[in-house]
Amino acid sequence: MKVSEAINSRRSMRVFKPDPIAKADLEWIITNANRAASNGNLQPWKLYVTMGGARQRLSTAILRAMDDNDHGPGAEYNVYPREFTPVYDARRKLVGKQLYTLLGVPRGDAAGMTRQFRKNYEFFDAPVGMILCVERRMGNGQWIDCGIFLDQLMLLAREKGLHTCPQAAFSRYQHIVRRELKVPDDQVVICGLALGYADPGAVPNNLITERAPISDFTTWFTE
Ligand SMILES: Cc1cc2nc3c(=O)[nH]c(=O)nc-3n(C[C@H](O)[C@H](O)[C@H](O)COP(=O)(O)O)c2cc1C
Repeated sequence: MKVSEAINSRRSMRVFKPDPIAKADLEWIITNANRAASNGNLQPWKLYVTMGGARQRLSTAILRAMDDNDHGPGAEYNVYPREFTPVYDARRKLVGKQLYTLLGVPRGDAAGMTRQFRKNYEFFDAPVGMILCVERRMGNGQWIDCGIFLDQLMLLAREKGLHTCPQAAFSRYQHIVRRELKVPDDQVVICGLALGYADPGAVPNNLITERAPISDFTTWFTE
């Protein structure tokens, strides 16, 4: 598979088949992702991989917390900008509208939206649920490194015929993640990553999100 094929076939999948993933394949993905560049070669990423009973226990614990109205402390970082300017607001709303249309959840259907939101915490039924963390003492630069690492995981998964969905949703329930996976106090929960075989027939998996033309964000200096 060419790098461009991995990039262009990656998209966030939100319906997975339960088929298990061989641990050797996960080790291959993580080992290769670990070649990610990082400033000063700090390699600041911390990865927690759950599968089988461990993945289910994490899901159950978070869903139970939701049922108990336990919203916890929330994410430890700004998952989104503090203020949305119109261009970003429009992009976020568009993808939300497209996704919820494919899910068959009409606007204003609060119960339907909650149902979908809860699926995040089942890793959308993927057999593997990863959690990416970084030490709190790290600077913004090391969060860039973690982002690169995360992308490498997603692209390498493609080479194994697997799909993914990155999930900031887990940062919101970081207190449960921390408790279940024994994440040390000095680490921040960045996000989750669902990984498995996507269900190709599932309508929500058909979402191909839009991208702005490169002229929107690229400034050239050619002479
Ligand atoms: C850091 C990060 C966190 C995300 N968190 C969630 C999430 O919690 N739930 C979800 O359904 N999608 C989540 N997404 C997926 C985005 O919605 C998706 O990447 C975006 O709409 C572009 O679509 P694509 O990934 O299919 O190209 C997240 C993506 C990133 C990069």
